Amino acid sequence: MKTKEFLQVSKIIPVITIYDLKTSVDLAKALINGGIKILEITLRTQEALEAIKLIAKEVPDAVVGAGTVLNAKMLEEVKNAGAKFAISPGLNSVFAKEAKNIDLPLIPGIATAGELMLALEFGFENLKFFPAQATGGINMLKSFSAPFQNVNFCPTGGINLNNMNDYLKLDNVLCVGGSWLTPKELILDKKWDQITQIAKQSLEQISQ
Ligand code: 3PG
Repeated sequence: MKTKEFLQVSKIIPVITIYDLKTSVDLAKALINGGIKILEITLRTQEALEAIKLIAKEVPDAVVGAGTVLNAKMLEEVKNAGAKFAISPGLNSVFAKEAKNIDLPLIPGIATAGELMLALEFGFENLKFFPAQATGGINMLKSFSAPFQNVNFCPTGGINLNNMNDYLKLDNVLCVGGSWLTPKELILDKKWDQITQIAKQSLEQISQ
C-alpha cells in the first residue's frame, strides 16, 4: 500500500496505548468489531513492539501501524515487528533523511509551515498534523491549503466526537486520529463491548 492509502482505510485512526500485552489482541478485535480496521499502536509503553507483532499475527484483518516513532532506530524496530506503516509526532532533518532509506511508509507529524516544508523537501506529502487542537486546529489546516496544495493530513491531538467532523470536512484532511476510542479505564477493565460501541458510534457520527 502507498502511504496515502493508509490514511484512506478509515476516517478515524485509533491512537492506542498498550498497557498489557495479554489483552492487546482483545483490544484490537474490539475495534475491528466496531468497524475500525486500522490501528496505530504507540511506542509509549514497553509492551508496544510485542503487541504489534502479536496483533499482526493474530488479527489478520487489522492494518497495524506504529505511532510515536521518534527516530530511524524505532522505525526499523516497528518494521521488523510487522507494522505496515509508521507515524511520528514530529520531524527533524536527521530522521527525515534516514527514514528515506527504510522501506516502511512514514507519516511524519508537523505543526508549522516550516516543518511542513522540511517534510516536502524529503518527499513526505501525507502528514500528521499534531497537536491539532493546540496548534491552530481547523484554521491552521485551512491556511495550509493555499500554499501547500497536494498535501494530505491526518490531524490528531485533542480530537473527539465533538470536533472530528469539523476536521473531516476539510479538503486536505483524509482522516483524523485520537485516543478517545480507547479509554484507559475501559481497557484495564476489559470492557471490550464498550470499546466496540465507541468505535461504531464514532463511525456512525461521521457526517456524509
Ligand atoms: C497522538 O499521538 O496522536 C495523540 O496523543 C492523540 O491525541 P489525543 O490523545 O488528544 O487524542
